[in-house]
Amino acid sequence: MRKGLLLTTASVALLTTLTACGNSSSGGDSSGSGGKKPKIGVILPDSKSSARWETADRPYLAKAFKAAGVDYDIQNAQGDKQAFQTIADQMISSGVNVLVIVNLDSGTGKAVLDKAKAQGVATIDYDRLTLGGSAQYYVSFDNTVVGKLQGEGLSKCLSDMKAKKPVVAELNGSPTDNNATLFAQGYNSVLDPKYSSGEYVKGPNQSVPDWDNAQAGTIFEQMLTSEPRIGGVLAANDGLGNAAIAVLRKNHRNGQVPVTGQDATVQGLQNILAGDQCMTVYKAVKKEADATARLAVALAKGKKGQTNGSVKDPQGGRTVPSVLLTPVAVYKDNVKDVVNDGYVTKAQLCTGRYAALCAKAGIQ
Ligand code: BGC
Repeated sequence: MRKGLLLTTASVALLTTLTACGNSSSGGDSSGSGGKKPKIGVILPDSKSSARWETADRPYLAKAFKAAGVDYDIQNAQGDKQAFQTIADQMISSGVNVLVIVNLDSGTGKAVLDKAKAQGVATIDYDRLTLGGSAQYYVSFDNTVVGKLQGEGLSKCLSDMKAKKPVVAELNGSPTDNNATLFAQGYNSVLDPKYSSGEYVKGPNQSVPDWDNAQAGTIFEQMLTSEPRIGGVLAANDGLGNAAIAVLRKNHRNGQVPVTGQDATVQGLQNILAGDQCMTVYKAVKKEADATARLAVALAKGKKGQTNGSVKDPQGGRTVPSVLLTPVAVYKDNVKDVVNDGYVTKAQLCTGRYAALCAKAGIQ
Protein backbone atom coordinates (compact mmCIF):
# COMPACT_ATOMS: atom_id res chain seq x y z
CA MET A 1 0.00 0.00 0.00
CA ARG A 2 1.23 3.47 -0.81
CA LYS A 3 1.98 5.80 2.07
CA GLY A 4 -0.73 8.31 1.11
CA LEU A 5 -0.18 11.91 2.06
CA LEU A 6 1.64 11.43 5.33
CA LEU A 7 4.46 13.78 6.10
CA THR A 8 7.72 12.61 7.54
CA THR A 9 8.02 12.88 11.29
CA ALA A 10 10.60 15.62 10.84
CA SER A 11 8.29 17.82 8.81
CA VAL A 12 5.42 17.27 11.23
CA ALA A 13 7.68 18.32 14.08
CA LEU A 14 8.76 21.37 12.14
CA LEU A 15 5.22 22.37 11.26
CA THR A 16 4.21 21.99 14.88
CA THR A 17 7.03 24.31 15.89
CA LEU A 18 6.01 26.78 13.23
CA THR A 19 2.39 26.65 14.38
CA ALA A 20 3.39 27.38 17.92
CA CYS A 21 5.51 30.28 16.75
CA GLY A 22 2.77 31.67 14.50
CA ASN A 23 0.07 31.43 17.15
CA SER A 24 2.09 33.22 19.77
CA SER A 25 2.19 36.42 17.76
CA SER A 26 -0.64 38.77 17.01
CA GLY A 27 -0.90 42.36 15.77
CA GLY A 28 0.39 45.27 17.81
CA ASP A 29 3.97 44.11 18.33
CA SER A 30 6.23 47.12 18.43
CA SER A 31 9.29 45.57 16.79
CA GLY A 32 9.85 45.50 13.04
CA SER A 33 6.50 46.93 12.03
CA GLY A 34 6.74 50.15 13.99
CA GLY A 35 3.81 49.22 16.25
CA LYS A 36 1.43 48.98 13.30
CA LYS A 37 -0.31 45.88 12.04
CA PRO A 38 2.20 44.01 9.85
CA LYS A 39 1.53 44.05 6.11
CA ILE A 40 2.66 41.34 3.74
CA GLY A 41 2.78 41.59 -0.06
CA VAL A 42 2.72 38.52 -2.31
CA ILE A 43 3.34 38.46 -6.07
CA LEU A 44 2.15 35.34 -7.89
CA PRO A 45 3.57 34.63 -11.37
CA ASP A 46 0.61 33.96 -13.68
CA SER A 47 -2.61 32.00 -13.92
CA LYS A 48 -1.92 29.93 -17.03
CA SER A 49 1.26 27.92 -16.47
CA SER A 50 -0.56 26.02 -13.73
CA ALA A 51 -4.01 26.28 -12.19
CA ARG A 52 -2.44 26.10 -8.72
CA TRP A 53 -1.50 29.78 -8.34
CA GLU A 54 -5.08 31.02 -8.36
CA THR A 55 -6.95 27.93 -7.19
CA ALA A 56 -4.64 26.93 -4.34
CA ASP A 57 -1.83 29.36 -3.47
CA ARG A 58 -3.93 32.52 -3.39
CA PRO A 59 -6.79 31.19 -1.22
CA TYR A 60 -4.47 29.28 1.15
CA LEU A 61 -2.18 32.29 1.62
CA ALA A 62 -5.13 34.62 2.17
CA LYS A 63 -6.60 32.26 4.75
CA ALA A 64 -3.30 31.95 6.60
CA PHE A 65 -2.74 35.74 6.68
CA LYS A 66 -6.30 36.32 7.86
CA ALA A 67 -5.89 33.76 10.62
CA ALA A 68 -2.66 35.48 11.71
CA GLY A 69 -4.45 38.83 11.83
CA VAL A 70 -2.07 40.64 9.47
CA ASP A 71 -2.80 42.89 6.51
CA TYR A 72 -1.93 41.46 3.13
CA ASP A 73 -2.01 42.16 -0.56
CA ILE A 74 -1.80 39.25 -3.01
CA GLN A 75 -1.41 40.14 -6.68
CA ASN A 76 -0.75 38.16 -9.84
CA ALA A 77 1.68 39.47 -12.50
CA GLN A 78 -0.09 37.39 -15.21
CA GLY A 79 3.21 36.43 -16.82
CA ASP A 80 4.23 40.06 -17.39
CA LYS A 81 7.72 40.87 -16.07
CA GLN A 82 7.14 44.61 -16.35
CA ALA A 83 3.91 44.31 -14.37
CA PHE A 84 5.76 42.19 -11.81
CA GLN A 85 8.19 45.06 -11.13
CA THR A 86 5.41 47.65 -11.05
CA ILE A 87 3.43 45.61 -8.51
CA ALA A 88 6.57 45.25 -6.38
CA ASP A 89 7.21 49.01 -6.48
CA GLN A 90 3.63 49.70 -5.45
CA MET A 91 3.79 47.20 -2.62
CA ILE A 92 7.07 48.62 -1.33
CA SER A 93 5.76 52.19 -1.42
CA SER A 94 2.53 51.10 0.26
CA GLY A 95 4.67 50.06 3.22
CA VAL A 96 4.73 46.25 3.20
CA ASN A 97 7.04 44.81 5.85
CA VAL A 98 7.58 41.59 3.93
CA LEU A 99 7.56 40.85 0.22
CA VAL A 100 6.93 37.28 -0.94
CA ILE A 101 7.59 36.54 -4.61
CA VAL A 102 7.28 33.72 -7.13
CA ASN A 103 9.68 35.02 -9.76
CA LEU A 104 9.02 34.97 -13.50
CA ASP A 105 12.75 34.65 -14.05
CA SER A 106 15.77 35.14 -11.84
CA GLY A 107 16.89 38.43 -13.40
CA THR A 108 13.67 40.36 -12.78
CA GLY A 109 13.14 38.54 -9.48
CA LYS A 110 16.57 39.65 -8.27
CA ALA A 111 15.90 43.29 -9.21
CA VAL A 112 12.72 43.23 -7.12
CA LEU A 113 14.34 41.50 -4.13
CA ASP A 114 17.32 43.85 -4.13
CA LYS A 115 15.07 46.89 -4.24
CA ALA A 116 12.97 45.59 -1.36
CA LYS A 117 16.08 44.86 0.67
CA ALA A 118 17.43 48.36 0.07
CA GLN A 119 14.15 49.71 1.49
CA GLY A 120 14.37 47.52 4.59
CA VAL A 121 11.63 45.16 3.44
CA ALA A 122 12.13 41.49 4.38
CA THR A 123 11.90 39.05 1.47
CA ILE A 124 10.88 35.43 0.88
CA ASP A 125 11.27 33.37 -2.31
CA TYR A 126 8.06 31.37 -2.56
CA ASP A 127 8.22 28.06 -4.45
CA ARG A 128 10.91 29.22 -6.94
CA LEU A 129 14.42 30.17 -5.85
CA THR A 130 15.68 33.40 -7.42
CA LEU A 131 19.20 32.58 -8.60
CA GLY A 132 21.72 35.21 -7.59
CA GLY A 133 18.94 36.80 -5.54
CA SER A 134 18.83 38.17 -2.02
CA ALA A 135 15.71 36.62 -0.47
CA GLN A 136 16.22 35.98 3.24
CA TYR A 137 14.25 32.73 3.12
CA TYR A 138 13.01 30.15 0.66
CA VAL A 139 9.83 28.08 1.07
CA SER A 140 9.15 25.24 -1.35
CA PHE A 141 9.01 21.49 -1.81
CA ASP A 142 12.02 19.31 -2.33
CA ASN A 143 11.97 19.88 -6.07
CA THR A 144 14.57 17.26 -6.98
CA VAL A 145 12.36 14.72 -5.22
CA VAL A 146 9.38 16.00 -7.24
CA GLY A 147 11.33 15.14 -10.41
CA LYS A 148 12.42 11.78 -9.02
CA LEU A 149 8.80 10.85 -8.33
CA GLN A 150 7.96 11.76 -11.94
CA GLY A 151 10.81 9.62 -13.32
CA GLU A 152 9.88 6.70 -11.06
CA GLY A 153 6.20 7.19 -11.93
CA LEU A 154 6.86 7.01 -15.65
CA SER A 155 8.95 3.87 -15.27
CA LYS A 156 6.31 2.24 -13.08
CA CYS A 157 3.62 2.96 -15.70
CA LEU A 158 5.85 1.79 -18.55
CA SER A 159 6.57 -1.48 -16.78
CA ASP A 160 2.86 -1.94 -15.88
CA MET A 161 2.19 -1.67 -19.64
CA LYS A 162 5.06 -4.07 -20.33
CA ALA A 163 6.54 -1.54 -22.77
CA LYS A 164 9.55 -2.88 -24.68
CA LYS A 165 12.39 -0.39 -25.23
CA PRO A 166 10.00 2.57 -25.22
CA VAL A 167 11.06 5.86 -26.78
CA VAL A 168 10.70 8.45 -23.99
CA ALA A 169 10.03 12.10 -24.80
CA GLU A 170 10.68 14.84 -22.26
CA LEU A 171 8.66 18.05 -22.07
CA ASN A 172 10.60 20.12 -19.55
CA GLY A 173 9.41 23.23 -17.70
CA SER A 174 10.51 26.78 -18.38
CA PRO A 175 14.27 27.21 -18.84
CA THR A 176 14.07 30.35 -16.68
CA ASP A 177 12.54 28.51 -13.70
CA ASN A 178 15.12 27.00 -11.34
CA ASN A 179 12.48 24.47 -10.30
CA ALA A 180 12.36 23.13 -13.87
CA THR A 181 16.12 22.52 -13.65
CA LEU A 182 15.67 20.66 -10.35
CA PHE A 183 12.71 18.61 -11.64
CA ALA A 184 14.83 17.58 -14.67
CA GLN A 185 17.74 16.65 -12.40
CA GLY A 186 15.35 14.46 -10.46
CA TYR A 187 13.72 12.64 -13.38
CA ASN A 188 16.90 12.32 -15.38
CA SER A 189 18.57 10.69 -12.39
CA VAL A 190 16.00 7.91 -12.93
CA LEU A 191 15.79 7.96 -16.75
CA ASP A 192 19.44 8.48 -17.78
CA PRO A 193 20.63 5.09 -16.48
CA LYS A 194 17.75 3.47 -18.39
CA TYR A 195 18.76 5.25 -21.58
CA SER A 196 22.38 4.17 -21.10
CA SER A 197 21.47 0.55 -20.41
CA GLY A 198 19.25 0.43 -23.50
CA GLU A 199 16.10 -0.28 -21.45
CA TYR A 200 14.59 2.97 -22.82
CA VAL A 201 15.41 4.93 -25.96
CA LYS A 202 16.05 8.64 -25.43
CA GLY A 203 13.53 10.51 -27.57
CA PRO A 204 12.95 14.20 -28.22
CA ASN A 205 13.65 16.47 -25.25
CA GLN A 206 12.61 20.12 -25.12
CA SER A 207 11.98 22.92 -22.62
CA VAL A 208 8.69 24.78 -22.79
CA PRO A 209 9.22 28.56 -22.52
CA ASP A 210 7.29 30.04 -19.57
CA TRP A 211 5.58 26.67 -19.08
CA ASP A 212 3.24 27.84 -21.86
CA ASN A 213 0.67 25.06 -22.27
CA ALA A 214 -0.31 26.09 -25.83
CA GLN A 215 3.32 26.08 -26.96
CA ALA A 216 3.73 22.70 -25.29
CA GLY A 217 1.03 21.34 -27.62
CA THR A 218 2.87 22.63 -30.70
CA ILE A 219 6.18 21.29 -29.41
CA PHE A 220 4.74 17.87 -28.66
CA GLU A 221 2.99 17.70 -32.04
CA GLN A 222 6.39 18.26 -33.69
CA MET A 223 7.98 15.67 -31.41
CA LEU A 224 5.42 13.06 -32.38
CA THR A 225 5.77 13.87 -36.08
CA SER A 226 9.54 13.54 -35.93
CA GLU A 227 9.40 10.42 -33.73
CA PRO A 228 6.07 8.59 -34.11
CA ARG A 229 7.29 5.73 -31.88
CA ILE A 230 7.11 7.86 -28.71
CA GLY A 231 5.96 5.42 -26.04
CA GLY A 232 6.19 7.51 -22.87
CA VAL A 233 6.13 11.21 -22.03
CA LEU A 234 7.83 12.83 -19.07
CA ALA A 235 5.81 16.05 -18.85
CA ALA A 236 6.97 18.36 -16.05
CA ASN A 237 3.50 19.47 -14.92
CA ASP A 238 -0.17 18.69 -15.47
CA GLY A 239 -0.62 21.55 -17.97
CA LEU A 240 2.21 20.30 -20.19
CA GLY A 241 0.96 16.73 -19.72
CA ASN A 242 -2.54 17.72 -20.82
CA ALA A 243 -1.11 19.39 -23.93
CA ALA A 244 0.64 16.12 -24.84
CA ILE A 245 -2.50 14.09 -24.06
CA ALA A 246 -4.57 16.31 -26.40
CA VAL A 247 -2.12 15.57 -29.24
CA LEU A 248 -2.09 11.84 -28.41
CA ARG A 249 -5.90 11.87 -28.38
CA LYS A 250 -5.97 13.41 -31.85
CA ASN A 251 -3.74 10.55 -32.97
CA HIS A 252 -5.90 7.96 -31.16
CA ARG A 253 -2.99 7.04 -28.91
CA ASN A 254 -4.16 8.44 -25.57
CA GLY A 255 -4.12 5.80 -22.86
CA GLN A 256 -1.46 3.82 -24.72
CA VAL A 257 1.36 6.24 -23.94
CA PRO A 258 1.91 7.03 -20.26
CA VAL A 259 2.24 10.74 -19.49
CA THR A 260 3.37 12.27 -16.19
CA GLY A 261 2.46 15.56 -14.55
CA GLN A 262 2.61 17.63 -11.39
CA ASP A 263 0.31 19.79 -9.23
CA ALA A 264 -2.69 17.46 -8.83
CA THR A 265 -4.87 19.87 -10.79
CA VAL A 266 -8.50 18.95 -11.40
CA GLN A 267 -7.67 18.39 -15.07
CA GLY A 268 -4.62 16.26 -14.25
CA LEU A 269 -6.57 14.12 -11.79
CA GLN A 270 -9.39 13.69 -14.32
CA ASN A 271 -6.84 12.62 -16.94
CA ILE A 272 -5.54 10.04 -14.45
CA LEU A 273 -9.04 8.73 -13.70
CA ALA A 274 -9.67 8.43 -17.46
CA GLY A 275 -6.43 6.47 -17.89
CA ASP A 276 -4.86 9.11 -20.16
CA GLN A 277 -2.30 10.29 -17.59
CA CYS A 278 -0.14 7.94 -15.60
CA MET A 279 0.52 10.01 -12.50
CA THR A 280 0.85 13.47 -11.02
CA VAL A 281 2.78 14.86 -8.06
CA TYR A 282 0.71 16.30 -5.24
CA LYS A 283 2.30 19.18 -3.39
CA ALA A 284 0.23 20.15 -0.37
CA VAL A 285 0.16 23.86 -1.16
CA LYS A 286 -1.70 24.54 2.08
CA LYS A 287 1.44 23.56 4.00
CA GLU A 288 3.59 25.72 1.74
CA ALA A 289 1.27 28.69 2.22
CA ASP A 290 0.99 28.16 5.98
CA ALA A 291 4.77 27.90 6.40
CA THR A 292 5.22 31.07 4.35
CA ALA A 293 2.65 32.97 6.36
CA ARG A 294 4.29 31.98 9.66
CA LEU A 295 7.69 32.98 8.37
CA ALA A 296 6.40 36.27 6.97
CA VAL A 297 4.60 37.15 10.21
CA ALA A 298 7.75 36.42 12.23
CA LEU A 299 9.85 38.59 9.91
CA ALA A 300 7.30 41.40 9.97
CA LYS A 301 7.70 41.43 13.74
CA GLY A 302 11.46 41.57 13.50
CA LYS A 303 11.85 37.97 14.61
CA LYS A 304 13.82 35.15 13.07
CA GLY A 305 11.95 32.54 11.10
CA GLN A 306 11.87 28.77 11.69
CA THR A 307 13.32 26.62 8.92
CA ASN A 308 13.97 22.92 8.38
CA GLY A 309 16.88 23.12 5.99
CA SER A 310 18.64 25.23 3.42
CA VAL A 311 19.41 25.35 -0.28
CA LYS A 312 22.55 26.49 -2.02
CA ASP A 313 22.07 29.16 -4.67
CA PRO A 314 24.40 27.89 -7.41
CA GLN A 315 24.64 31.35 -8.97
CA GLY A 316 25.10 33.59 -5.94
CA GLY A 317 26.91 30.92 -3.92
CA ARG A 318 24.70 31.75 -0.91
CA THR A 319 23.15 29.25 1.45
CA VAL A 320 19.51 30.23 1.80
CA PRO A 321 17.65 29.11 4.96
CA SER A 322 14.61 27.18 3.78
CA VAL A 323 11.43 25.37 4.59
CA LEU A 324 11.28 22.36 2.26
CA LEU A 325 8.18 20.16 2.17
CA THR A 326 7.62 16.63 0.95
CA PRO A 327 5.82 15.90 -2.36
CA VAL A 328 3.67 12.79 -2.93
CA ALA A 329 3.21 10.70 -6.10
CA VAL A 330 -0.43 10.22 -7.11
CA TYR A 331 -1.71 7.36 -9.28
CA LYS A 332 -5.29 6.28 -9.98
CA ASP A 333 -5.50 4.38 -6.68
CA ASN A 334 -4.65 7.34 -4.43
CA VAL A 335 -6.41 10.19 -6.25
CA LYS A 336 -8.91 9.88 -3.39
CA ASP A 337 -6.23 10.99 -0.90
CA VAL A 338 -5.98 14.38 -2.65
CA VAL A 339 -9.75 14.78 -2.28
CA ASN A 340 -9.64 13.64 1.36
CA ASP A 341 -6.89 16.19 1.99
CA GLY A 342 -9.28 18.93 0.79
CA TYR A 343 -7.04 20.05 -2.09
CA VAL A 344 -9.76 19.42 -4.68
CA THR A 345 -13.41 18.72 -3.98
CA LYS A 346 -15.48 15.82 -5.22
CA ALA A 347 -17.82 18.37 -6.82
CA GLN A 348 -14.92 19.80 -8.89
CA LEU A 349 -13.48 16.44 -9.85
CA CYS A 350 -16.41 14.11 -10.35
CA THR A 351 -18.38 15.99 -13.00
CA GLY A 352 -20.10 14.40 -16.01
CA ARG A 353 -18.29 11.31 -17.25
CA TYR A 354 -15.89 11.45 -14.29
CA ALA A 355 -18.66 10.63 -11.78
CA ALA A 356 -18.52 6.93 -12.61
CA LEU A 357 -14.71 6.95 -12.72
CA CYS A 358 -14.63 8.64 -9.30
CA ALA A 359 -16.91 5.98 -7.84
CA LYS A 360 -14.63 3.29 -9.26
CA ALA A 361 -11.62 5.01 -7.70
CA GLY A 362 -13.29 5.04 -4.29
CA ILE A 363 -13.92 8.79 -4.19
CA GLN A 364 -16.96 9.43 -2.03
C1 BGC B 1 6.00 25.12 -9.78
C2 BGC B 1 5.01 24.13 -10.33
C3 BGC B 1 4.23 24.77 -11.47
C4 BGC B 1 5.15 25.45 -12.49
C5 BGC B 1 4.37 26.25 -13.51
C6 BGC B 1 6.88 25.65 -10.88
O1 BGC B 1 7.82 26.55 -10.42
O2 BGC B 1 6.78 24.51 -8.77
O3 BGC B 1 4.14 23.71 -9.31
O4 BGC B 1 3.49 23.80 -12.14
O5 BGC B 1 6.05 26.31 -11.82
O6 BGC B 1 3.66 27.30 -12.91
